Amino acid sequence: MTTVTSPGASYQLCASCGNRYGDRDAAPRCVSCGGLLELVHPVPALRGADLRAVFAARRGDGPGSSSGVWRYQELVLPNAADHVVSHPEGNTPLLARERASAYAGVSNLLLKHEGHNPTGSFKDRGMTVGVTQARRIGARAVACASTGNTSASLAAYAAQAGIPALVFVPAGQVASGKLAQSLAYGARTLLVNGDFDACLALVQQASERLGIYLLNSINPFRVEGQKTIAIEALEQLGWDAPDWLALPAGNLGNTAAFGKALREVYELDLIERVPRIAAVQAAGAAPFASSFRDGFTTRPKVKAETVATAIRIGDPASFDRAVQAIRYTNGVVTTVSDAEILDAKAVIDASGVGCEPASAASVAGVRRLVGEGIIRPSDRVVAVLTGHVLKDPGALLRYHQELSPRPEFANPPVEIEPTLDAVERVIGD
Ligand code: F0G
Repeated sequence: MTTVTSPGASYQLCASCGNRYGDRDAAPRCVSCGGLLELVHPVPALRGADLRAVFAARRGDGPGSSSGVWRYQELVLPNAADHVVSHPEGNTPLLARERASAYAGVSNLLLKHEGHNPTGSFKDRGMTVGVTQARRIGARAVACASTGNTSASLAAYAAQAGIPALVFVPAGQVASGKLAQSLAYGARTLLVNGDFDACLALVQQASERLGIYLLNSINPFRVEGQKTIAIEALEQLGWDAPDWLALPAGNLGNTAAFGKALREVYELDLIERVPRIAAVQAAGAAPFASSFRDGFTTRPKVKAETVATAIRIGDPASFDRAVQAIRYTNGVVTTVSDAEILDAKAVIDASGVGCEPASAASVAGVRRLVGEGIIRPSDRVVAVLTGHVLKDPGALLRYHQELSPRPEFANPPVEIEPTLDAVERVIGD
């Protein structure tokens, strides 16, 4: 795949103090002020319609192009060359489903289904870039803390690259599909007696002490890959930006990535106007939403509790970057209850699409914002479904089989004797 990048190397920039680091520096944060790093790439030699044409021409053109991440290599990591570790990933569908649209209250709702990625979540888009970078710098091992999806993705990509992986997850709080994946792909899996926030603190200390490359979402290379969710959705819409991009928000890596993506594609004349981001938190894990209500003057930490274990996070790592994303896009941050999340999930599932609980927060959030008059029923909305329906079978079966009182959309199975009479009785009901 030929690149249309101008000569020169990418570099890492500290968003807080302006310090610069080379694109092979492995430090997880700015060494002088502890700020988060972000990548700056050489400006592509083409822009606007010409760059759009380059991206379009790459669809299905050779091995690198089959990835919905590396197709946009000028905006992701232009100089990755032969190091790329790709499954491939991305190229996820944008789905219209009448039932989900009616439930959300907008006539033009599209679901960007990131559960179609190789390990079943959007994390693969960041991880292909993160593990590529690990290979580029010759990392001897990689590590992350996770609520389950990042660890599944890290385990798979590290296995492909032949690099040992170490993952820290909160004991008893990871959905079974995700934990199973981490074990299956061969990561050394540590079940930490603490919450995700404790895992994140621990992995940062451990990676420093042991010299292991840290691949949490504060890793700026992962952010570059995750930008392609928004970029690919815009391309699928013919670069005609929707009014809103709605997504679930936990550790805020994705919100930050969306903000960076939108700024860059706007500055390169790929889109004519910037869609607004709607970041949706679970009510029991909503420090970012509280801060938004205070005009981002506070940075609260909470003890997180929600059925959506993927976003059970009380002290999000990419907070500052996500503030920039909301400000830049004139976005909003809202909350939804666990009941709203589970009902939205049941509707998405029953429309034949399916997603994990945290993913449904995006649609539940759209419904809430329509109710509050912030999103108009005529607005064009893309809601991101971040993970696959089979990630969390436990939550799914509890909703349909166990919750009392029985939820509105529950579809409990019926146990019967092996007789036709019994079948007829059930059908008669
Ligand atoms: N949806 C799913 C399915 C997730 O797994 C996550 C995060 C999010 C939404 C929120 O994205 O953190 O970028 O705001 N999962 C991380 C993990 C924390 O470890 O897998 P975010």
